[in-house]
Amino acid sequence: MNAAGKRLLRLEGESVGRPVGELLPDPELASLLRPSLEGERELALRRGENELRVRSLPLPELDGGRGRLLIVEDVSGLRRSERQRAELIANVSHELRTPATAIAGYAETLLEDAGRLDPEVARMVEVIHRNARRLTELFDDLLYLSRIDGQDGPLPLSPVAVAAVVGECLDKASAAVAEKELTVQTFGLEGVRVLAHREALGHIVGNLVENAVKYSHRGGVVTVGARRRDGGVRVEVIDVGIGISPEHHERIFERFYRVDKGRARAAGGTGLGLAIVARLCEKMGARLSLRSQLGSGSVFRVWLPEAAPAPD
Ligand SMILES: Nc1ncnc2c1ncn2[C@@H]1O[C@H](COP(=O)(O)OP(=O)(O)OP(=O)(O)O)[C@@H](O)[C@H]1O
Ligand SMILES: [Mg+2]
Repeated sequence: MNAAGKRLLRLEGESVGRPVGELLPDPELASLLRPSLEGERELALRRGENELRVRSLPLPELDGGRGRLLIVEDVSGLRRSERQRAELIANVSHELRTPATAIAGYAETLLEDAGRLDPEVARMVEVIHRNARRLTELFDDLLYLSRIDGQDGPLPLSPVAVAAVVGECLDKASAAVAEKELTVQTFGLEGVRVLAHREALGHIVGNLVENAVKYSHRGGVVTVGARRRDGGVRVEVIDVGIGISPEHHERIFERFYRVDKGRARAAGGTGLGLAIVARLCEKMGARLSLRSQLGSGSVFRVWLPEAAPAPD
């Protein structure tokens, strides 16, 4: 172990020749050197004020293939600037949201009496209203993302009935569904419970349903369902809309990334929806995947551990 390693882990004395368990009193840390371990592992640790990231890599050249290398990094500065960034975004969004809400509110009031307005003026007020609404939605999404970013550690999980969450999301989307004359189908939801964070799962499914509706053709079909897979449950949101060509699949979960800027702008929205979905899945330990081809619709899947059935 080099001097920096000792300093960061706060170890005293000579390390060579001492048993790992004695040298690294933290059992979680010592477990990173277990010879039976496979592949790479990572651990977040606190040492007083310092936040450490410890990585364990296989080192097959050593000890007849059982060798391991620990890399210890002080990530306190990085985490601090991440928190500052999240705080700044939260403050700015909050400050800007208030005036945007006022503008949207007054425009809405004017539109209630649109008949009394000059048609040209009514059209302008309508544009003001639509854009002010878009701003408040953008600030809401930014605020929500920075709240998740600012939260340390994973989200607490408890049993959640999938059917209830999906039902709420479909209710919220019902106006847009009717407007586009879409058919909604569900499968496999009855009695299925997953280990999740209730509110986060609502945001995830809500965003995916909103997209499925938004990127469907008029008269299309949106399907939401659940399948048991690998000891867990895969919640699927399926549409037969415009689809996404594979070269976008990786970037689509980035903040503000949108496939077709022109079309996306016409459809409203900001490109934060899937970033929120991805971040929440990460925070819940849920696996997120996408299958889609341009022109043949999309399937977004979220895999979660299954919870025991509800007692009768
Ligand atoms: N079901 C889908 N079918 C086709 N394209 C999709 C689908 N879902 C997402 N996309 C593409 O991915 C982009 C990013 O989606 P995301 O939900 O992050 O943003 P958005 O829907 O444009 O805006 P918002 O922030 O309101 O959700 C979209 O602009 C669209 O190009
Ligand atoms: Mg969206």
